[in-house]
Amino acid sequence: MTDIMQAAAVEDQAEHIAPAPRVSVQAFCETVETAAAVQAAGEDRRMSKAHLKIQMGGITAAAEAYSNAPTPNVIIIESVGRGDDVLNGLDSLADVCDAGTRVVVIGRHNDVLLYRELTRRGVSDYLISPVGTLDVVRAICGLFSAPDAKPVGRVIAVIGAKGGVGASTVAHNIAFAVAHDLQLDTVVTDLDLGFGTAGLDYNQDPTQGIADAVFSPDRIDTAFIDRLLSKCTDHLSLLAAPATLERVYDFGEEAFDSIVDSLRATMPCIVLDIPHQWTGWTKRTLIAADDILIVAAPDLANLRNAKNMLDLLRAARPNDRRPSYCLNLVSVPKRPEIKPADFAKALGDQPVAIIPFEPQVFGTAANNGQMLAELSSSHRTAETFRQLAQMLTGRADTKKSKSSLFAPIIEMLKRSA
Ligand SMILES: Nc1ncnc2c1ncn2[C@@H]1O[C@H](COP(=O)(O)OP(=O)(O)O)[C@@H](O)[C@H]1O
Ligand SMILES: [Mg+2]
Repeated sequence: MTDIMQAAAVEDQAEHIAPAPRVSVQAFCETVETAAAVQAAGEDRRMSKAHLKIQMGGITAAAEAYSNAPTPNVIIIESVGRGDDVLNGLDSLADVCDAGTRVVVIGRHNDVLLYRELTRRGVSDYLISPVGTLDVVRAICGLFSAPDAKPVGRVIAVIGAKGGVGASTVAHNIAFAVAHDLQLDTVVTDLDLGFGTAGLDYNQDPTQGIADAVFSPDRIDTAFIDRLLSKCTDHLSLLAAPATLERVYDFGEEAFDSIVDSLRATMPCIVLDIPHQWTGWTKRTLIAADDILIVAAPDLANLRNAKNMLDLLRAARPNDRRPSYCLNLVSVPKRPEIKPADFAKALGDQPVAIIPFEPQVFGTAANNGQMLAELSSSHRTAETFRQLAQMLTGRADTKKSKSSLFAPIIEMLKRSA
């Protein structure tokens, strides 16, 4: 091949690989050659948004690592063993793998039967070693760009059964836990354009945000939305509300569709902070979400509203996991309250969390522009937010949570799903 032809071939290959979204990728290699190829792949421009970690130890190390930690978006496993060893190893990995995690295997055998068995076990791709940098880039990017690829992002919609019940606070703290504890790239989308508090809560004052997108629908694509995000922490970004009143915010039913779709293409977790309103777009955005959390305070109006919302959303989403609800602002001194058990009876499900009224910590966090876990990581309510993060990202049914008090609720949710 001449140099020019070679350059053309490289160019040709490069053109067909779409960049990887902001996914987390962890590789468990057995040989230094493969580790080097994966490392080089991580430095490729198409992988610049992804977070890549490489370890040695192959499948055994992977199964060990995930027996008490949530799994990333993608796991790459190198196995130099025989076909049977690979399959047995994968079976042990499957026990600790969270739903939605994609597995790529790098092995030595060019064997159709093995390939079939791997596919049957849900392995997304099988590469035959020795692998080159581009093989790895292509495999990772291909997981998300193939025409039949599942969208990367999971959308979690949070709304209050009334205004002021702490829905935004809960949404922001859960998003923080998803980013910080599960290490999934997360974006909080503040849909309360006039009065949203996500900027305040994360101590951010961005000059642009969701208004730039929703008022310029023709410009919306992944790259445009990307520029509107402000980075809060390593894995957490914010699509902020302007919280100014010069404009009014009347939107059509589909106003936020393309924004959410763009986010879904690159962000593993999208938390929608939906204001307490009942409009075409709030209803539509809720129904379209992957998971819904309704936040209610323990009084009669909240009970009625939560019931109406849950009934409507359950009917509109008969094939989805049921929307969940949590109680917030519980046990205000001297205040008569409706008991969680009565909520459960009326709503047909237990609350997924009961968050006490704690003006001291919530007030301090809000005034400092901090999350509860930043203020006090060991606080009981910070742990509740971590559990909600696990549950809402589908990472609850394994491991840590098994031994927690939370487990019965998860079991129940699974049964009612
Ligand atoms: N569990 C709680 N205990 C005490 N204060 C809380 C609690 N949850 C939220 N708050 C406070 O309640 C106020 C309203 O919260 P916010 O999240 O803005 O409500 P919403 O989004 O439902 O309107 C905020 O000042 C917040 O700090
Ligand atoms: Mg709010």
